[in-house]
Amino acid sequence: MLGGLTARSMLRASETRRPASDTTSNADFFVRNHFTAPKISDDGWTLDITGLVSKPVRLSYPDLLLMPSVRQAVTLECAGNPPGGTLVGTSVWSGVPLAALLKQADIRKGASTVVLHGADSGDSEGIPPGAHFARAIPIEKAMEPSTLVAYEMNGDPLPATHGFPVRALVSGWYGMDSVKWLTRIEVLNHPFSGYFQHEEYVSMRGNGERQPITRMSVSSKIVRPSEGEDIHSDTYQVEGLAWAGERKVAKVQVRVSGSGDWQLANFRAAPVAMVWTPWSYDWHAPRSGRYTLDVRATDEDGDIQPDARDPDRRDPYQLNTPHRVRVNVRF
Ligand code: MTE
Repeated sequence: MLGGLTARSMLRASETRRPASDTTSNADFFVRNHFTAPKISDDGWTLDITGLVSKPVRLSYPDLLLMPSVRQAVTLECAGNPPGGTLVGTSVWSGVPLAALLKQADIRKGASTVVLHGADSGDSEGIPPGAHFARAIPIEKAMEPSTLVAYEMNGDPLPATHGFPVRALVSGWYGMDSVKWLTRIEVLNHPFSGYFQHEEYVSMRGNGERQPITRMSVSSKIVRPSEGEDIHSDTYQVEGLAWAGERKVAKVQVRVSGSGDWQLANFRAAPVAMVWTPWSYDWHAPRSGRYTLDVRATDEDGDIQPDARDPDRRDPYQLNTPHRVRVNVRF
């Protein structure tokens, strides 16, 4: 919906990769916090760029707002979002490319890792005392034009729960890297070993192998009908969303119980990278009864949502098996 966007911001939104009509409102956008959300005033806030840089930088909020900015629609999904879950949303974000800030700080030879430090800390969820939220990304991802230091969400200043005054937006990677309440960006020439880097957001296999969680996997959900819905017609338009992080969605398929086959759904807009794609499927129920509807997507690299969770995975992340909805049809 375009509600709330001014004529000027509508014009700017039209320059983004996706119309604003496919976005989630700020009020409906999921919130995932490890600690109590800190309340930060824009006057006192500063952002420091430190570590392996020739010219350490300290920026105020106005300094950042005066820099050339970009505006882009990006889908953010939490690494722990279950099939059909609500921990996914799309917003139009505005901010400064992280690469521009790193350029200003003049990163030195050998830089490999960029640590994004948040202001939030506390004692919770068995976290070591004094630990604060921080995540590291490789320098190559930090330099991508779509990796932002963001200060606006759908044309408004970031709401407090979403990181006011400033957050990172690591487009196409799971949400944990989009660090909120950003206060320091640290450049290293070695891997970062913070608690949230090492103990959480790691995939674990039965043989003990550990890999960091990074890029979003291909996934999809049914938005309509909802679980348990009564449908009083033999024709029904099933609707939903599909996304694949840095890659475009290539195909969405729906399977109705009884038929066994996966059937192609239609895209409602041409798929683009980083943003979810709405799709629909015209379903003709042959008779009244109980049905299950499943959806799965395939990305442009041919990666497809798996029918079942890899039984060797021991962690609770990247849960991208097909979303299933059960309905009752009576006509
Ligand atoms: N940043 C800080 N500082 N603290 C946090 O707890 N949670 C992360 C990320 N950034 C988090 C954070 C996680 S796990 C996710 S999924 C996203 O923020 C969620 O962003 P949102 O709450 O704006 O939807």
